[in-house]
Amino acid sequence: MTNIHDRLLIIDFGSQVTQLIARRLRELNVYCEIHPYQNVTDAFLAEFAPKAVILSGGPASVIDEGSPRPPSTVFDLNVPILGICYGQQVMMEVLGGKVESGHGTAEFGRAFVTPEAEKLALLDGWFEDDKEQVWMSHGDHVSKIAPGFEVYGTSPNAPFAITADTSRNFFAVQFHPEVHHTPNGAKLYENFVKMAGFKGDWTMGAYREEAIAKIREQVGDAKVICGLSGGVDSSVAAVLIHEAIGDQLTCVFVNNGLLRKGEAEEVITMFRDNYNMPFIYADERELFLGELDGQSDPETKRKIIGKLFIDVFQKHAAEVGGAKFLAQGTLYPDVIESVSFSGGPSVTIKSHHNVGGLPEKMGLKLVEPLRELFKDEVRELGRELGLPTGFIGRHPFPGPGLAIRCPGEITRPKLEILREADAIYIDQIRKHGLYDEIWQAFVAILPVKTVGVMGDGRTYDFACALRAVTSVDGMTADYYPFSHEFLGETATRIINEVPGINRVTYDITSKPPGTIEWE
Ligand code: XMP
Repeated sequence: MTNIHDRLLIIDFGSQVTQLIARRLRELNVYCEIHPYQNVTDAFLAEFAPKAVILSGGPASVIDEGSPRPPSTVFDLNVPILGICYGQQVMMEVLGGKVESGHGTAEFGRAFVTPEAEKLALLDGWFEDDKEQVWMSHGDHVSKIAPGFEVYGTSPNAPFAITADTSRNFFAVQFHPEVHHTPNGAKLYENFVKMAGFKGDWTMGAYREEAIAKIREQVGDAKVICGLSGGVDSSVAAVLIHEAIGDQLTCVFVNNGLLRKGEAEEVITMFRDNYNMPFIYADERELFLGELDGQSDPETKRKIIGKLFIDVFQKHAAEVGGAKFLAQGTLYPDVIESVSFSGGPSVTIKSHHNVGGLPEKMGLKLVEPLRELFKDEVRELGRELGLPTGFIGRHPFPGPGLAIRCPGEITRPKLEILREADAIYIDQIRKHGLYDEIWQAFVAILPVKTVGVMGDGRTYDFACALRAVTSVDGMTADYYPFSHEFLGETATRIINEVPGINRVTYDITSKPPGTIEWE
């Protein structure tokens, strides 16, 4: 299919915040893609045909031999280019300026930029108070700007904080306009895309139409199977694909015995009864819990669940007969991660449960209609598709389910206690109107029993931990600052209403050093 929308290319040099550039642009209804600099060849540029280019920040030093560079042809495309931090420095170096590192010129954190006399369209709406707060994070600095560039803003440690060559529409800033610590940064992106002539027509309604056309074109009259987890991503993918190809899609939902209270019923009602989709409900609780019996090592548990899921899915998918495609709710951050500058994290903290390897094993091709979307965009698409609001706003739930919220041995009674406590905790959060402020909240049941006193009697029951975090993407997280009243009330309810728990704690660990889940 030809590209309907104008596209902006972000060339990634490995900054931690490159994804935020894409977020700011998507908020302006501009379609953009992030590509690591190594992949941006002349052929790629010709095919992608960007209407504008942004060069991201990055950890390298332009001065170092072999440091990353964009292809020089990018500067001959005759489109507006914005260089940010490392992107600014690389632009200067390539176009004939000079970059140095030296004592006293590094800047990390908040800084204030003041304007020069002449106005720049990129800075419309800036400097209304004569200065703008920006976020700096650089060791090197530009010591000489490239021919054709003029200075439009300076900070105490960055005499070339904002420069531009207006004849070529090249702009270069030393700071990061994409982060929240540059409060007026979004305006800068807005001005940039306006100058580049973007229409801002990349809406969810348009995305839905285009995605449906793409799915039809890719799948033809073949059959597709989709593993539903009950999470937002696979659900939105399923509804979208169903809208595109109707009953050529069959969903497989595996109950592994590790779901939350009422979850299986909710998923079945929604998909089989409301959406009327061909639906296979695989009740495999005995199998999963049997294999997990006696296992307490977190990685072993994850591996058992991952392998069983694949076996079970494969078995039930065979019932569909002749499926050629597997649908997955892969999101854009997963795509970026797998082709990222660094090639993803080098240390395995946890083996994530997914259906990796399955398509090859089953000879299936992938349908991934969400691979261009961020999580909040998937939610927006879900709303557009008419999925219930309460369902769309649900907190993420991990593939291995309650297994990783039950440190130590997993037993059926412990899972039952956990389900009840978790339901009360979430009910409390909803009642206090906090659900949408929190990225994820759940209870973990601890592998320890403690002594308590209830009425006149002694109790010897399990302790549990409440967890609630705020986060943007799950990569880092802060614990949620509940009031003491909320925590007290919730603990009382759990202890009174859930037989088997006599002590409640609140987990106040951030990530890092903790992780969100307990295993
Ligand atoms: P951690 O515990 O690594 O979790 O800080 C980060 C986010 O990822 C979720 N998570 C998973 N999601 N399969 C998933 O689909 C998994 O194996 C898995 N492990 C963790 C976790 O719930 C949190 O949102």
